Amino acid sequence: MTILVTGGAGYIGSHTVVELQNAGYDVVVMDNLVNASKKVIGRLEAITGKKVPFYETDIRDREGLEEIFTKEKIDGVIHFAGLKAVGESVEKPWEYYENNISGTLTLVDVMRKHNCKNIIFSSSATVYGDPAFVPITEECPKGTCTNPYGWTKSMLEQVLSDIYKADNEWNVVLLRYFNPIGAHKSGTIGENPNGIPNNLMPYITQVAVGKLPQLNVFGNDYDTPDGTGVRDYIHVVDLALGHVKALKKFESGSGLNIYNLGTGAGYSVLDIVKNFEEATGIKIPYEIKPRRAGDIATCYSNADKAAKELGWHAQYGIKEMCADSWKWQSQNPNGYDE
Ligand code: NAD
Ligand code: UD1
Repeated sequence: MTILVTGGAGYIGSHTVVELQNAGYDVVVMDNLVNASKKVIGRLEAITGKKVPFYETDIRDREGLEEIFTKEKIDGVIHFAGLKAVGESVEKPWEYYENNISGTLTLVDVMRKHNCKNIIFSSSATVYGDPAFVPITEECPKGTCTNPYGWTKSMLEQVLSDIYKADNEWNVVLLRYFNPIGAHKSGTIGENPNGIPNNLMPYITQVAVGKLPQLNVFGNDYDTPDGTGVRDYIHVVDLALGHVKALKKFESGSGLNIYNLGTGAGYSVLDIVKNFEEATGIKIPYEIKPRRAGDIATCYSNADKAAKELGWHAQYGIKEMCADSWKWQSQNPNGYDE
């Protein structure tokens, strides 16, 4: 089976390419490199010892997609490509809707023309908004997103669900990721944010490597055990393996499926600092700051459905997540830049 991985040079996509090749799938990667480096491809080939066919193509470029689907025999698509910076999406809503929504509509149109109706879509726990309950099951109602990025995920879930309802030949798997951190054991691929990181773990690793002076903890007055925000952090390799398991749904031809990919455990910001310090021996200075706009107190998954139906559950614990994030950052202080 040949899988097209859109956004396959990015953080989660690159880790998924490794696990797909390890599991024996043929993989084709496409990415416009707006938030990724071409060097990733060489590093992937060094990890798996296999060739990684790569197309520098935009999901909005119909001719470019046509070329891929004509040259390669694509059986299914894992669709990671998209813009994902929450703050930037508030500043540039048009760019986010255009890239993520137009791009996905073009991709899906080219897929159906080539009779490829198998898609796994990268969604997010952000679609639950401020969740009605925790731990969050897939039955939890979708909520109000606080930013255009989140809305693109919520809307694209609807688009893909409607496409399935109109044509039951489609297999659509919507995977709602919780908070991916960590990196491949080799430390040669990892998360490479542009500029100052917005997310917690890359911020911590940049403090650890000496690029930033301290961590700013956004609020300690939430209704959580220590007052700081609680999230469900998941090792990116576990997340990647979740995609490999989800491919089963293409083989069984079973329609529209939605899964949370999380560990089911919640850790506070201060828990993460403590675990990072214990895993690496590096002290992370921090200061309590006001809450960040749009943040919620607590978000963690009930991951039972993926365990039951896909036979998937997260294997890596928080210490490994911290140690592997640090291995990547310390070996690549400037990410993929020399
Ligand atoms: P990433 O930015 O590292 O990867 C996305 C990739 O898509 C990048 O390599 C980028 O160059 C590419 N891309 C963007 N627009 C494109 C376009 N028009 N055409 C072709 N390629 C394009 O991000 P990631 O963290 O690996 O996230 C992958 C997917 O998972 C995204 O859809 C993201 O929204 C989703 N997601 C991520 C998280 C997270 O915390 N990282 C959480 C939930 C969902
Ligand atoms: C953010 C996005 C969400 C996206 C997710 C994964 C917002 C409001 N939400 O979620 O849409 O799906 O990333 O990409 O941006 N924190 C600090 N200091 C920091 C950074 C973070 O204290 O410098 C805290 C946050 O307040 C939060 C926790 O750490 O409590 C995790 O933050 P982050 O990594 O940004 O993820 P989310 O807020 O869960």
